Amino acid sequence: MRERVSAAFELREAFARLSLEYQAGLDEVLTKINILRAEFEHLHEYSPIEHVTTRLKSPKSIMKKMRRKGDVLTLGNVRECVRDIAGIRIVCSFIQDTYKVAEALMKQQDVNVLEIKDYIKDSKPNGYQSLHLIVEIPVFLSHEVVKVPVEVQIRTIAMDFWASLEHKIYYKFDTEIPDFLREGLLEAAETAARLDRQMEEIHTEVRQLRPPSPS
Ligand code: GTP
Ligand code: MG
Repeated sequence: MRERVSAAFELREAFARLSLEYQAGLDEVLTKINILRAEFEHLHEYSPIEHVTTRLKSPKSIMKKMRRKGDVLTLGNVRECVRDIAGIRIVCSFIQDTYKVAEALMKQQDVNVLEIKDYIKDSKPNGYQSLHLIVEIPVFLSHEVVKVPVEVQIRTIAMDFWASLEHKIYYKFDTEIPDFLREGLLEAAETAARLDRQMEEIHTEVRQLRPPSPS
């Protein structure tokens, strides 16, 4: 009994330590994004970023994901297998802004890109669009430097609108989603993608019309 209590206590401590490190990684990436945003506004009087949200996966969700993947729950396995404990979502105005933001982040010296999934170029079969990066960032602690993976999702307002509502609708169904709903969602995703392309064209045309700003 005493051993069980002590094991549970150790696990709680380990998760607290993990959360501290991943929150720090998240803060580092958020600062980078805020700097890019401020610089862009300063240079171009325009921001490619509409809004940014962050989230840290709870111990409960981490354990659920480990179970789903069939991995043994050890701290080493959590670090290796769950790369979306720290997550940041960047919602941009236009499609080209998503790539601009991704490039500006990926080329930074202390950012190590572990994975790129371009669901904007190749959307998921259900219509989901977004640019996903897993980046690794160093976190400087008192006695060591730990490298923390952070999942970065970059998407437009239209992509975010679709994904947020699809998530809500989909999670109401415990089982397979009925065909007619699946088709409806795919059609809505195509409408959102069309809207993105249309807004991008208008934006480009307006920029061409605008007289160059006096230097
Ligand atoms: P996870 O095991 O869920 O992390 O998926 P994965 O490892 O295959 O990674 P992927 O890059 O495909 O998806 C990661 C995250 O993107 C998910 O946790 C969601 O936040 C988001 N996402 C991916 N697919 C969809 C989708 O079809 N709909 C919505 N709403 N979000 C999605
Ligand atoms: Mg995930």
